[in-house]
Amino acid sequence: MARKKIALVGAGQIGGTMALVLAQKNLGDVVLIDIPMTQGMPKGKALDIMEGRSVINSSVDLQGSTDYSAIKGADVVIVTAGFPRMPGMSRDDLLDKNCGVIKTVAEAIKENAPDAFVIVITNPLDAMVYNMQKQSGLPANKVIGMAGVLDSARLACFVADELGVSVEDVKALVMGGHGDTMVSIMECVSVGGIPVSQLMSKEKFAELAKRTAGAGGEIVNLLGRGSAFYSPATSAIHMAEAYLLDKKSVFSCAAKLNGEYGVNGLYCGVPVVVGANGVEKILEVKMSAEEKAAFDKSVEACKKNAEWVDAHT
Ligand code: APR
Repeated sequence: MARKKIALVGAGQIGGTMALVLAQKNLGDVVLIDIPMTQGMPKGKALDIMEGRSVINSSVDLQGSTDYSAIKGADVVIVTAGFPRMPGMSRDDLLDKNCGVIKTVAEAIKENAPDAFVIVITNPLDAMVYNMQKQSGLPANKVIGMAGVLDSARLACFVADELGVSVEDVKALVMGGHGDTMVSIMECVSVGGIPVSQLMSKEKFAELAKRTAGAGGEIVNLLGRGSAFYSPATSAIHMAEAYLLDKKSVFSCAAKLNGEYGVNGLYCGVPVVVGANGVEKILEVKMSAEEKAAFDKSVEACKKNAEWVDAHT
């Protein structure tokens, strides 16, 4: 059986990190793509990882290219093409710049890898994944956005820190748009199976939820240049693995809603089941009245950006 092929469109900070993680996991052959202006950069990153494979017990093949045709026949395409945030910028500030980039990439996917499972990371996430599905015409179950896995992981990290427990034992769920309006669902956070509500006050949880919503910005300010890349990379690979290994994994991601949560035709962060058929199910969770109101507000923010995309494409 031929090895799986994973195309990474955008070979920058997140793209390069994903290539390394994919090689470490032996998940499949990797092709790194970037724009011609970057010259040998994608090839250089691929070769750098190739040369270190014997010490990470990896035998996958890695290639770099500035030609989209190199993604031909990819099983999974992960898109980070575009511009990251700088200090003082919100994710929405990238809307105009990244919309055109996604259109170009969507057309290349449609032409070269129409059967691929596509994971979009480019921000503003919910609008860019909406744009990707619209422009590529791929089925909605095969196009998702990476945000909820990362936001939930960030919340899990803060909960574990606060309680002084292993982060491996914390399960968390963050829903809604990948921006200031995201919603941490307290009832869906557990620590070794114990509901977090039995271990901390609602006020303390709200504090951690607030830090989660601003966690990307916290990193942007610390880095001074660019945005988070290690945790976005590992989060996206977690999602690709669910598809490639038909794991039926449950996680939050930007998925196209078709009546779920009373929303139609919009991408927003919700828990899904992902296996060999892409998004196999969207799960509807019970929220408190307060959480539902916050989720509805977050949906409104996604809607506003999707309308912007519609008006400009
Ligand atoms: N096709 C392919 N690659 C492109 C294109 C394009 N049309 N346009 C830009 N790129 C490349 C850039 O040349 C750059 O190498 O995308 C890469 C993006 O990498 P970085 O600038 O290092 O950004 P990164 O930190 O990886 O984040 C990428 O993900 O989390 C989001 O907000 C973040 O939108 C940003 C994206």
